[in-house]
Amino acid sequence: MIVGVCTETEQNEKRIALTPEGAKKLISMGLKVSIESGAGVKSSYMDEDYIEAGASIEKNRNNLLASCDMLLGVQAPDTETLKNLKKGTILVSFICPLQNHDYVAKLQKLNITALAMDTIPRISRAQSMDALSSMSNIGGYKAALLGATHLDKYMPMMMTAAGTIPPAKVLVLGAGVAGLQAIATAKRLGAVVEAFDVRPVVKEQVESLGAKFVEVPIEEEETETKGGYAKELSDRNKEKQRTVIHEHVKKSDIVITTALIPGKPAPLLITKKMVEDMTPGSVVVDIAAEQGGNCELTKPGETINHNGVSVIGPLNLPSTLANHASKLYSKNLLSLLDLLIEDGKPNLDFNDEIILNATITNEGEVVSPFVKENQ
Ligand code: NAI
Repeated sequence: MIVGVCTETEQNEKRIALTPEGAKKLISMGLKVSIESGAGVKSSYMDEDYIEAGASIEKNRNNLLASCDMLLGVQAPDTETLKNLKKGTILVSFICPLQNHDYVAKLQKLNITALAMDTIPRISRAQSMDALSSMSNIGGYKAALLGATHLDKYMPMMMTAAGTIPPAKVLVLGAGVAGLQAIATAKRLGAVVEAFDVRPVVKEQVESLGAKFVEVPIEEEETETKGGYAKELSDRNKEKQRTVIHEHVKKSDIVITTALIPGKPAPLLITKKMVEDMTPGSVVVDIAAEQGGNCELTKPGETINHNGVSVIGPLNLPSTLANHASKLYSKNLLSLLDLLIEDGKPNLDFNDEIILNATITNEGEVVSPFVKENQ
């Protein structure tokens, strides 16, 4: 079986799905690995490293696509790439099937068996495959660094001969994987951090990182799904949240927003008025920008200046740490392949909940129950 890896087609995507170390592991499992020449360069993995690992380098992308039995990707490959694959090829990448209904239909039409890294259930057994968490972790880390570098103040308290500088105040909204890492990173840089999330279970996690949990008196309402994700708040509770958050935003030097609700646009947490009440020189880093943003002023992919406040809407932060992001993603992917491949061949065992939920399409049909329900 030939496993192919191509240069990512998405603009500004620097990651590669498989590192040379990952290629070596697949080869030891009895597979052949073919890499498009230069596919790893932007994440500092060179053709020579892949050759040394036992992989072959293919200069002609279409030849590679036509010959591979499995294609590994980070982002969902473009239609041109899909069209060049053989019928029945297995694709493993992020797919975001709920946001990309047309793409799923294309996979069905082209008879591609697609496994999505983003629909692997978040159960203990699948922790090593959880690419959503490894990438969110990078996003949170990078968000705190972006905040620090855009701020015209120190992050830590500084006692100097010229006077004492107080530590920066950082507010993190949404304390899932990215938010918790943003808290940890801002703390390491010496800031005073507070955070809020609608899921009450998060309070303890926030406090264990040394940050203060902002209490919002949310009226009787389920804020968490059975799967551990946030639910959209009622209009009354949204208003209550905004009133409390407004007071904290005003006093913050950096606000990092990470709040997401699966399958919905990002909730609006920071209004224009709140930004206008911030001190000039302050920073909002809105990493929910890809899903529309948590701040009313966010322009995805841009940094704007509003009355002296920088509002940053970064896209694809994991790609900015391409070397480590690829290393972690490749490990996540290999854990899935460890489960999928038996005796050098794929075994799509739909009795296994990981394989069942990860498989978006097979033989022209939608398989994942989660995707079927939301089609
Ligand atoms: P996410 O990326 O979907 O959302 C980010 C955060 O935004 C969440 O914590 C959510 O509660 C919060 N949020 C949503 N609406 C909000 C609002 N209006 N105000 C403030 N915050 C708001 O979440 P992520 O990081 O993917 O984590 C989701 C869940 O998955 C968590 O329960 C996490 O602990 C769990 N998880 C479980 C894993 C496992 O067991 N293997 C691994 C990773 C995460």
